[in-house]
Amino acid sequence: MTATQPLATASSYPNVSQSYELYERAGQLIPGWTQLISRRASQFANGVSPVYAASAKGSRFTSVDGVEYIDWVNAVTAVILGHADDVVDGAVKEQIDRGSLYTLNCPLEIELAEELNETIPSSEMVRYTKGGGEACAVAARIARGTTGRDKMIICGYHGWHDWYQAANFGVDPTTGEYPFAGIEPIGVPRALEGTIFAFADGDYSALEALLEEHRGEVAGIMMEPARSQLPEPGYLERVKKLAAAHGAVLIFDEVSCGWRISTGGVQKVVGVTPDMTVVAKAMSNGYAIGAVVGSREIMEPAGRMFISSSYWSDNVGLAASLTTIRELKRRDSETRFKEIGESVRRAMNGAIESAGLSGSCTGLHVAPTIALDLPDNVDGRVVQTLFVQEMARRGIHCFMGFKATLAHTEDDIRQTADCAAEALNIIKSGLENDNLVELLDVDLKKDPFRRQVK
Ligand SMILES: Cc1ncc(COP(=O)(O)O)c(C=O)c1O
Repeated sequence: MTATQPLATASSYPNVSQSYELYERAGQLIPGWTQLISRRASQFANGVSPVYAASAKGSRFTSVDGVEYIDWVNAVTAVILGHADDVVDGAVKEQIDRGSLYTLNCPLEIELAEELNETIPSSEMVRYTKGGGEACAVAARIARGTTGRDKMIICGYHGWHDWYQAANFGVDPTTGEYPFAGIEPIGVPRALEGTIFAFADGDYSALEALLEEHRGEVAGIMMEPARSQLPEPGYLERVKKLAAAHGAVLIFDEVSCGWRISTGGVQKVVGVTPDMTVVAKAMSNGYAIGAVVGSREIMEPAGRMFISSSYWSDNVGLAASLTTIRELKRRDSETRFKEIGESVRRAMNGAIESAGLSGSCTGLHVAPTIALDLPDNVDGRVVQTLFVQEMARRGIHCFMGFKATLAHTEDDIRQTADCAAEALNIIKSGLENDNLVELLDVDLKKDPFRRQVK
């Protein structure tokens, strides 16, 4: 490690006071502290985890406090090759020297569309945006405009826009709860109530019932096809048939699940192609661009819809995305992510075993996650927060799940597993002495909202 401050050990925890001084200032200036809820201090170990970064390279970042961390969050998965990747950044810098945004269109727009068509099975035509939520809003607009229908059905997280957040006016028909506990639709027009309905992940019957109830009125079904697990075999095929039978456009939101599992996304892995797909985040290794891709039949009518914004085709995002996708292919990312994921799984299983705890590292290789068998009377959130706290003290920025980049090395994995073994040992002692809560030096970490697709 090249930490500019000694790596945390049980006797010398890193001093992150500069992070928290900035956070305090942010609280006075920025409502809600941060622009992305997942960057709030309360998502991690608030008071112990770093909050502001000064620089990042490869698998690591250095916080403003001068502490280096191994990063398993990676800009909430938007960084896929590694921070400040030389090849992508080189292409971006060259493009900036030629102009970051032209008066005219940039030919890269066509080149990237061709690359996306070659890469994503459902792609024949392409529109760009800057972010993932924005691309979801565009996809919903196209579905509505193409079918001439108003209603949408969703399963997953699809961003901050009104069309989607209106789902939280409704109550989940199966659980009787709001679909996304934690998101209150404050400021979303009540008039949108009844235009969008949510169904629980894997609940085919609920989807069937919604389509029946709103027969002939549903423009599209937007869903995350997977996150940490692949769906049951045959599930997505059945959803596709059902959507077609009801004349609803099927949209896969692959903003989070795409790219790592395969450059062609989950749809390539499971062999089910939707009518439209939303991608963003990892497609550009940390530069802003998102895209809606889909069949010619569904996308072509978008040419008559008013879908237009000044920065959607800025040259930086286009150059970054084109280079990132080509680099993922050149570096055989699909195989590498399998190797890295399996190595993380082995190392974490070893850490669980060495701590003498019962549990395992579960989930897809792109999202290996420590799952402990806990007694019924133990609050899992305490254990999660304690783990995040102890890992942060040892120079590891993570949750109990680990999202890698291609820059993560065996050494990063070994160091992380060594620290995990120590953190799990502390959890073991807390369980044995029934004093887990006393071991917490922070408030319980808050999840931003309940996810439908885990
Ligand atoms: C599945 C999914 N869709 C949409 C979004 C929204 O993307 P963005 O934050 O770029 O607006 C996210 C972000 O986490 C996501 O995970």
